[in-house]
Amino acid sequence: MAHDLFEAARDASAKCHAPYSKFPVGAALRTEDGSIHAGANIEVISFPEGWCAETTAISHMIMAGHTRIREVAVFAPKLDFCSPCGGCRQRLAEFSAPDTLVYLCDAEGVKKTVRMDELLPYAFETEVIG
Ligand code: THU
Repeated sequence: MAHDLFEAARDASAKCHAPYSKFPVGAALRTEDGSIHAGANIEVISFPEGWCAETTAISHMIMAGHTRIREVAVFAPKLDFCSPCGGCRQRLAEFSAPDTLVYLCDAEGVKKTVRMDELLPYAFETEVIG
């Protein structure tokens, strides 16, 4: 099951806009209804304004009307496996359950599988806001 997410993340990485870092990343997530939403990193010349592949994938999920991530794959062809950055861990956690699976991929497929609560223990959560 995870392999189709790996393939979607790999295909998405080919669509990155990363002329500055030259570091393509792809992410693909599956929602509760089984639909897959993918994205790549997008950079702009004002460097801090670019964003990660996971963020693009989340945007596609939200715009398709979904809010719950069941599993997610992250792929970067230049790394043995790509682990989501700190900011993306928080973004993914927002739409995940503690047992949502995160697949860290290499060129062939899933290299390591971790749960969301392993990736981001003690996540920022509060009932005080909102
Ligand atoms: N990047 C991602 O897309 N996801 C991550 O989790 C880590 C970093 C991107 C951001 C930037 O475009 C490039 O990788 C180099 O940092």
